[in-house]
Formats: sequence, structure tokens, C-alpha cells
Amino acid sequence: MFIGLVLSMLYCNGVSAQSVRKSESFDSNWKFLLGDDSTAKQPEFNDSKWRTLDLPHDWSIEGSFSEKNPTTQGEGGLPAGIGWYRKTFKVPSTSKNKNILVDFDGVYRNSEVWINGYYLGKRPNGYISFSYDLTPYLNFGEKTNVIAVKVDNSNQPNSRWYSGSGIYRNVWLTTVNKTSFAKWGTFITTPQITNAQATIHVNTSIKLADKGLNLKTVIQDEKGNTVASDLSAIKYSGDSTTIAAYDLTIKNPQLWSTDHPYLYKISLQIVKDNSVLDNSVLDNITINTGIRSFQFDAQKGFFLNGVHMKIKGVCMHHDLGALGAVVNTRAIERQLQILKDMGCNAIRTSHNPPAPEFLDLCDKMGFLVMDEAFDMWAKKKTKHDYHEDWAQWHKRDLEDQILRDRNHPSVFIWSIGNEIREQFDSTGISIARELVKIVKNIDTTRPVTSALSESDPKKNFIYQSGALDLVGLNYHQEVYADFPKNYPNQKFIATETMSALETRGFYDTPVDTTRHWPQSSKVPFKQGNAEFAVSAYDNVAAYWGSTHEETWKIIKKYDFLSGLFIWTGFDYIGEPTPYPWPARSSYFGIVDLAGFPKDVYYMYQSEWTNKPVLHLLPHWNWKPGQIVDVWAYYSQADEVELFLNGRSLGVKTKQGDDLHVNWKVKFEPGILKIISRKNGKIVSSEEEHTAGAPAKIELSADRKSINADGKDLSFITVKVLDANGNIVPDADNLINFKITGEAQIADTDNGSQVSMESFKANHRKAFHGMCLLIARAKKSGGKAIVYAQADGLQSASLALNVK
Ligand code: GAL
Repeated sequence: MFIGLVLSMLYCNGVSAQSVRKSESFDSNWKFLLGDDSTAKQPEFNDSKWRTLDLPHDWSIEGSFSEKNPTTQGEGGLPAGIGWYRKTFKVPSTSKNKNILVDFDGVYRNSEVWINGYYLGKRPNGYISFSYDLTPYLNFGEKTNVIAVKVDNSNQPNSRWYSGSGIYRNVWLTTVNKTSFAKWGTFITTPQITNAQATIHVNTSIKLADKGLNLKTVIQDEKGNTVASDLSAIKYSGDSTTIAAYDLTIKNPQLWSTDHPYLYKISLQIVKDNSVLDNSVLDNITINTGIRSFQFDAQKGFFLNGVHMKIKGVCMHHDLGALGAVVNTRAIERQLQILKDMGCNAIRTSHNPPAPEFLDLCDKMGFLVMDEAFDMWAKKKTKHDYHEDWAQWHKRDLEDQILRDRNHPSVFIWSIGNEIREQFDSTGISIARELVKIVKNIDTTRPVTSALSESDPKKNFIYQSGALDLVGLNYHQEVYADFPKNYPNQKFIATETMSALETRGFYDTPVDTTRHWPQSSKVPFKQGNAEFAVSAYDNVAAYWGSTHEETWKIIKKYDFLSGLFIWTGFDYIGEPTPYPWPARSSYFGIVDLAGFPKDVYYMYQSEWTNKPVLHLLPHWNWKPGQIVDVWAYYSQADEVELFLNGRSLGVKTKQGDDLHVNWKVKFEPGILKIISRKNGKIVSSEEEHTAGAPAKIELSADRKSINADGKDLSFITVKVLDANGNIVPDADNLINFKITGEAQIADTDNGSQVSMESFKANHRKAFHGMCLLIARAKKSGGKAIVYAQADGLQSASLALNVK
């Protein structure tokens, strides 16, 4: 079947085929109406008065926070409703014999699509990707086409967190020949891996409109060298679709891992005859593959490529803070970089399929992903959530998720649901079995779990179904040690843990005991403070959870506990447990909504990386004589020593399973300094200075050079400093921003969970001395200057290069 040799020789000679499949961004120049007008589906409708915008777009994030919005506080109190999008476009006459599809990566929610007045269909699920074939309805040449999309997010509440509203992910226009690879129809697996070689198995589904075709496969390493290739005849059985399944071999493969995320590029081409001439290619697709194996073991936990490792994961919702639900590759990459620097190696996409860009980045950056499907099945959690669509859509939605995501090396666990109500009754058995079967019909290479909140195996019907490969427990850290006894021979993952609470930069000191906020489901929450803040010492958690240290110590201790997913990596909009309105975003994040780490970030960094970590908290602005708890996280050192204004307050070492050291210090203004030592030598030092009055602004950009593509972002940290350059820990000055030149203000934030300021405003109050300005590149290159000004403070500016 394979005539690989000839082909690989030709490839070595540098003959390459041109791209024939066109997948173009379909994001620019849409018209938008916030409201409902059913006549807008007609092509002749006059939309000239509608707003012009580029996708992706989330109209909720543009609105005002209000307790009265039907989304409720759980979704962040932003508006929802109905919106319409329309785009007028031309298709060249050269595309007449092609198939043309529109691909939506995600629309929240209940989208309905019309092309030139023809109804294409409806998709209730707000997180799933879907396509429509436009071919039969299109005009070619000079005559225009109109696509109209109605998005209906008006039935509220329908989510337990901020969802956003609109076409919030990318849209593509794909043009292919009648003979082409089926959408999501190719599955690449790596069934055998040794040091000497890896078998790459390709299974691809081809739509056939021609005969006498060949399938060409080329695998390239990261340097672009061809490492395997194949050419074989496509069998024509008379059906319109055919499947080709075959193996290739890579010698001495480089394995994909979280530390070394090595990707091979696999290109498949449908070619005419045996020729490799450019014009003979009918279709081509490229898939990035990582060669990796992994296994869960009931006694020993998790192994990646045969090497034992702990899954150090976090749960993430899809919103990108101030950007709302709008997908932005750089914003996702920044979140992942911050988590990577903390030592995190895995993400759970709670509780829905993520954006495709997220998975591409996880493949590239080295994260394992637990890809989750649902937060509810047939039984609801909020009044109008997906349970209303369950009966009609769950099979299709789950299948599409698995088909879309199965080629990503990062994806290592499928989750069929989070804290599903059906775990408490016998319907959980049949539905769990049905869902696992749907997954396994498509992919048997990854374990299936469900994030269970009922930890008693006898009472949990999803567990009783026997269908799960991996038992996922949410919380209940008190029973983890007994897992092997209670769940004999089962494999464990803590799918959700902690729910600890913090506000960046806020400290209740002295630290007394661990607090549960709220204390229980029965006692109304009364313990909060006037600021609606939660102390950033790791000593507050929701009653169903624990502090960060408590659960991590348990997970760390036992090998059979393969790892955990902390609730959550970043704060997200909505679910502001424990406070009532005006709290509107979460306190659960290790990193705040603006992307600024809270103190406990450094506890994880000290445990999860090999970097020498030294982190001192809190700030050093207190009342004279006040007793202040001083904590330090450290690693790669034997001991730390604390000094106040030059006087030693003692040397400390973590004892037993301690994860921090602490002192009680009577406050006096000045300099609090800590040093860490190894073998008597200083490894690092940190200082906290008592700050004076706010005097100036400091700007620092994560990247000063950004791409002129209308999408790239520079995240600019804004600090309020005193005259000596110390950050002022309680500064809340209102900072005004202006950008001239080739960038514009995208969003602002400060990480406060109760701010009612708009993320879209060109001003933002500092919160504990800091805020964030997000600058977006325009499409023409050049310079941009960012200005920050506040009453009574020395202003600041910063230059960006937009190229
Ligand atoms: C869990 C739930 C999460 C989130 C979290 C807050 O029970 O799975 O979605 O609500 O609680 O603590």
C-alpha cells in the first residue's frame, strides 16, 4: 500500500505542495445590534445604523454591573439579553466548484444562523464549536451574501459563573474542494512508543468526488526536517466518504512532556495520480502531534512517559478578566505563562470545552488538560441552564467536543461532568454509561472521569455505574488518605480542591485560626468586613474546602493521589463567595482577576518549581505597636532570617511538613528584611519598606513590542509609589489613561472583587497600590505612547513598538 520511498526522496529534494484549503478569519467588519429584530435575517434588511465591530465580541462585558440584571450576582451581575450580528461578504467566482463552510468556535448561547435568508440551524450550547455548509445558498462574484446570526442569552439565569454573551470566539470561512478531508475527521494516535521508535497511527476520513487519488503524509520535526513520509492510493469503494488507516514510524522520537513540549507536524495531502506537482493537490491539513504516553496507577499515581509525576493543576473558567469572554490568544498565553512560572503543569477547563487557541497553547507550552464537557445533565443547577437542551443535544455536543479536541497531546482526561446532580439518584448510572460510551466510540486513548462531590462510594450513582476509568473527587480532602480502602483498586484524581479565599494585598492580622467563610450552608454569612475583602494570609476557605496548605500537604504525602486541580488558578467574574452584592467576581484565584499573583502563589512556586523562592508578607504599613503576623515562603534554602530595621528577629526553618515560617512582630516603621541561606551562604533577600504618601506612578509593560494585527496586547502594570519608590499598599488613586499612536486602550482592571467601574473605561482606581492597563495594537505599525496621570501624582509614560 505504501510507496513512501519515492515520495520521501521528492520531499528531500524540497518539492512542496501549495495550500489549497483556505481557512480565512471571518472576524472583521460585522454589524451588531443589541436587541431583537427578526427581520434582520433577511438579506435586504438595512443594517447601516447598526454598530460596526470585529469579532470576537462579548456584549455583556461592555455593560454596567447591576444587582438588578437577571444574570444575578452569580454571573457577575452584567447584562445579557438578545443580540444580532450580520456580515455582508463576497465569494469569488473561482470558488464556484468548492465547498464553503462557516466555522464558529463558540457562541454564547442559543445561536441561530441564516445565509441569504436561508435558515442554517440552531446551536444552544454556548461553548461548543460548530459549522454550517454555506455552499448551496451562496452568490458568487460581484453579488453579495449576507450571513445573519441571532444570539439569545435572554433566558436567565443560565450559568453559575460569568458566561459572556455573543460571538465571543473566532469565526472562520473555510473553502475546500469537493474532494477534501472531512471536518474533524482525522485522528492521530501514538500506539507504540519506545526510545528507538514511535508508531504514528493515522485514521482519516475523506470526502471523495474524484477517483485515482493518493494520500500523502509527511511528518516533520520542529526544525522542519522530514522524519517520516508515506504515499498510498486512496481506495474508492463507491461511497462518498472513505476511511484510510495506516501507520508511520519515527525513529528516535522526541517525547512530548510538560517540561519539553515537543511537537511534530503531520501534513496530510490528497493528491492526484502519483505526482507531487503543485497543482495536483486537492486538499491538505496539518496536525500538531506530541508523542507521549501516560498512565494512572491505583497504587503509584500518575506517570508521564514512564516517569512518575504529580499532577499540579488548577481549574480555570474561560473568561479573561477585563476582556470578558472575548477570546484573545495573547491574553490566554499570559495566563498560562503566569501559571507555568508558578510550577503548574495541568489545567481543568471547568466546566466546558475551551477555545481551540487554549488547547494549541497548552500543546505548545506543556500543560496537561482535563477537558470537561458539562456542569449539568438533565437536572438543572440554574433555572434556564443547559438541562433544557440536554435531551436533544448532549450526544451531539459531547461527540463534537471529543472529535474536535482528540488530536491535542495536552488533553489527557475527558470529564463528562462536574458535580452532576444525577450522582445522587439511579439515573446517574444510565447516563454515565451512555456518556462514557459516546466518548469511547471516538477515543479510547484517554481515561474518562467525572468530578464527583458525593465522596461516599456507596451513595454515588455515577461511581456505581462502573463506567469511570478514573475517580474524580471534588473537595473532601479528609477522606483522601482512605481512598485505597474505600475505592479498592481505583485510580484517583482530585478534580477540584481548596476553594480558599483571598483578596490581593488585604491582610487581617494578627492571624487567629482558619476561618470558614461561609461557615456552613445553614448559617447566613455575617463574618465579613466592611471592605468586602478576604485576608490574603492563607487562612480562609469556603466550608466545603480548605486552605491551600491543608489539601496540598495531603496530596503531596500519598503517591496514590495522582494530583489535584485547585479551585482556581485565576479569579473569574461571578461567584463571589462569600460576599453579597456588590461583590461580583471570585475570591478563589491564586492570581487575581487582573493577573497579579496573591501571596499564596509563592507557596506553590516554592513547592512546585526548582527556583529559589523567597516571599515575605504582608506589606509594612501598620499602626505603631500593632502586632503583625509576618509570613515567608521559601525554597532551595536551609533557613531564613528576619530583620527589622537591622535587628535580627530570629532564624527560622520549616519544621515537619510546614510550608511557611512565621513571626509575630510588633510594628515599627522602617524596613523589614528577610534573607534565605543555604550552607551558610545567602541565596536571596527581600524587603518590605514602610511607604509614605503616594507621589508618583510607575508603568511597566509585559511586552513593549507587539504585533500590528489589531489583536495583540500589552499588559501594563501600574503602581502607585511614594517619593522613595516604594509601592503604597493602601493607595487607591484614580489613574487616567491615554494612548496616542498605533495602540488603543482595550481594558482596565485592578483585581478588586467589588469594583463597579467599567472594564472598558479609560480610568481605573488603584487597588492596594496597583492596577492594570491593557493596550491593544492597531493594524498599522508604528509607535504608541501610553500616558498615566492622577491628581497629585507625578505622571508616567511608556513607549510601545507596534510592528
Ligand atoms: C464547586 C463547583 C465549582 C465552584 C466551586 C466554588 O462545588 O464545582 O464550579 O462553584 O464549588 O467553591
